[in-house]
Amino acid sequence: MPSTVIVGGFFGDEGKGKIISYLAMKDNPVIAVRGGVGPNAGHTIEHAGKKYKVRMLPSAFLNPNTRLLVGPGVVISLDVLLQEISTFGTQDRSFVDYQCGIIEDSHRIIDSQGRLKESIGSTGTGTGPANADRAMRTLKLAKEIDSLALYLDDIPNAVNFALERKEQVLVEGTQGTFLSLWHGTYPYVTSKDVTASGICADVGIGPKRVDDVVIVFKSFVTRVGEGPLKNELSSEKVITNGWQEVGTVTGRQRRAAEFDFELAKRSIMLNSATQIAITKLDVVYPECAHMQSFSDLSSPAKYFIKTIEDKLKVPVTLIGTGPEVNDTIDRRNQ
Ligand code: GTP
Ligand code: IMP
Ligand code: MG
Repeated sequence: MPSTVIVGGFFGDEGKGKIISYLAMKDNPVIAVRGGVGPNAGHTIEHAGKKYKVRMLPSAFLNPNTRLLVGPGVVISLDVLLQEISTFGTQDRSFVDYQCGIIEDSHRIIDSQGRLKESIGSTGTGTGPANADRAMRTLKLAKEIDSLALYLDDIPNAVNFALERKEQVLVEGTQGTFLSLWHGTYPYVTSKDVTASGICADVGIGPKRVDDVVIVFKSFVTRVGEGPLKNELSSEKVITNGWQEVGTVTGRQRRAAEFDFELAKRSIMLNSATQIAITKLDVVYPECAHMQSFSDLSSPAKYFIKTIEDKLKVPVTLIGTGPEVNDTIDRRNQ
């Protein structure tokens, strides 16, 4: 389908980055465009023996044919963005919108102390205070920054032009549904809406221009920072299960609970998901590690996937069986 939006179904860190990288290599989109909040997100991607961490550019960067765009709804950390463009060598295919907001040191300072840090558990990257200034209409925009001159473009125009030509576009969400400022566990949320509609608004795509919404769920639920997590496991139990994870941006230990069907159902509703991607199946069912075919999965793993489809009434089209991009089962054409 020409436009596919990928969003997180729980509290972020579901493994969107890896799923997006897989789709980027498999479907060869002309454009990957990032919505969401900003450098508070961190995707980890493993491919061909290398591990990449990406916070500003779209996770599709591994495909050299894909243009990497950042929509006007995203706030930018200049240092992080320029560093990633240079590290990944994507100077000729990275573009940010004229109207992206710019995070400054003052925002990072406010975000790294006091209430935001201590009671919300913010990432300290300055995104919340920058979005507050945007609402106050005092935030600097990308078009005012000299060092971005080469990378500026009208992103909504580029994306809609591609869609008109029926070219493939990946729209990349960050964070997760229950971190949404509107739909999440307020006040323990991020500073914007991060459901599919919000992500589309970030990049300038109208609701009738979306063909598919892939919602990414991890095989268990994780949460980093403060806020409610139903049926949260003790840290001992998390370790016994082998579910321990450390945050990409902050290095904090992620909290964990079993897969939550109720949350997942609400998430499907809020995002109008048409497909489900399940990641980390190998962590819950280690015998399934690196598998690339559904028929090879163990009976309990197959049963887990079938239960998700029965209860949520949306097909599970992609399954992650390891951190490597190719550790993926693709059932889209079956
Ligand atoms: P945010 O935008 O910050 O919400 O991040 P994200 O959804 O891209 O997820 P993130 O990369 O922060 O965390 C997912 C972690 O799981 C990463 O370390 C990935 O390498 C890893 N991962 C992703 N899919 C799989 C999988 O199927 N199996 C295993 N074992 N690891 C996976
Ligand atoms: P902020 O977005 O930095 O203001 O943080 C607000 C809350 O959202 C905190 O609980 C963060 O841990 C959480 N959060 C923000 N971005 C991410 C993400 O990409 N993955 C997981 N949690 C996130
Ligand atoms: Mg992350």
